[in-house]
Amino acid sequence: MTEFKRVHDLKDHRVLITGSARGLGRGIAEALGHWGATVVIADLADDAVSAAVDELRSAGVDATGMALDVTDEGSVAEAINRAWTKLGGLDLLVNNAGVLSVGDLASTDKGDWDRTLCVNATGSFLMCRAMVRRLQQERRPGSIVSLASIAGKRGDPGMSSYSASKFAVVGMTQALAREVGTDDILVNAVCPGVVRTDMIDKLVRESGEAADDWIAQQAIKRAQTPGDIAYAIGFLHLSRAMTGQALNVDGGTLFH
Ligand SMILES: NC(=O)c1ccc[n+]([C@@H]2O[C@H](COP(=O)([O-])OP(=O)(O)OC[C@H]3O[C@@H](n4cnc5c(N)ncnc54)[C@H](O)[C@@H]3O)[C@@H](O)[C@H]2O)c1
Repeated sequence: MTEFKRVHDLKDHRVLITGSARGLGRGIAEALGHWGATVVIADLADDAVSAAVDELRSAGVDATGMALDVTDEGSVAEAINRAWTKLGGLDLLVNNAGVLSVGDLASTDKGDWDRTLCVNATGSFLMCRAMVRRLQQERRPGSIVSLASIAGKRGDPGMSSYSASKFAVVGMTQALAREVGTDDILVNAVCPGVVRTDMIDKLVRESGEAADDWIAQQAIKRAQTPGDIAYAIGFLHLSRAMTGQALNVDGGTLFH
């Protein structure tokens, strides 16, 4: 288990993280849990969710788990309801579930495009809608942080469907922030550059490029860690005065 310095106090904060059985979501759950939050691990496969929950619990994190497909309206509604009932509310939703597709636009088939937009953009929309409806219904404050990407601010070759899906997340974040600001609901996004996960392995494999070359273009010459991303999520959640932002956590690649 990675050690996380105690930098945020999230005691009594209840957090649902989508796509958190592995990778970045799993690491974010671990960090937020170490900072005192109760975390809900929600992902596609039951067995992967149970394994992640067991590991987190043995590391001292207050974790619970459930199966979730962010592209399925019924599954999304059930996850928010179950988490809310079990924990007595939800303070933070982290929209982390995502898929990557790689390839020039001219050779991208419609199925790949649809799947990428469906998980990354529609999935985030369905989760945001369910969380906002519940917060408004209960008249509670809360926040949402979505995983966008530097690909949500800059298009690069071979990344058209992924980039389109992440630009959608940034646009939705800005619009929703303006809609629910008066309900005391914050809506933000974070934009990582390179975090070494299965997704980055796939990108390296399919693009034929090297992660070290992308890292060499950063001001800070190392990959980001899940702890780096979790720190930014905790900061946005606790700030109470930042909303509609898409914060670059990319080692200094983009400055807008
Ligand atoms: N790794 C990076 O460098 C990087 C950079 C920028 C943004 N991101 C974003 O961070 C997020 C996490 O990325 P990662 O690198 O951990 O990817 P990953 O592929 O390692 O993990 C993605 C997780 O999402 C889950 N998932 C996929 N479809 C789902 C669905 N329909 N419902 C629920 N869960 C689903 C998977 O089961 C998996 O656990 C993604 O949104 C990704 O776009 C990652």
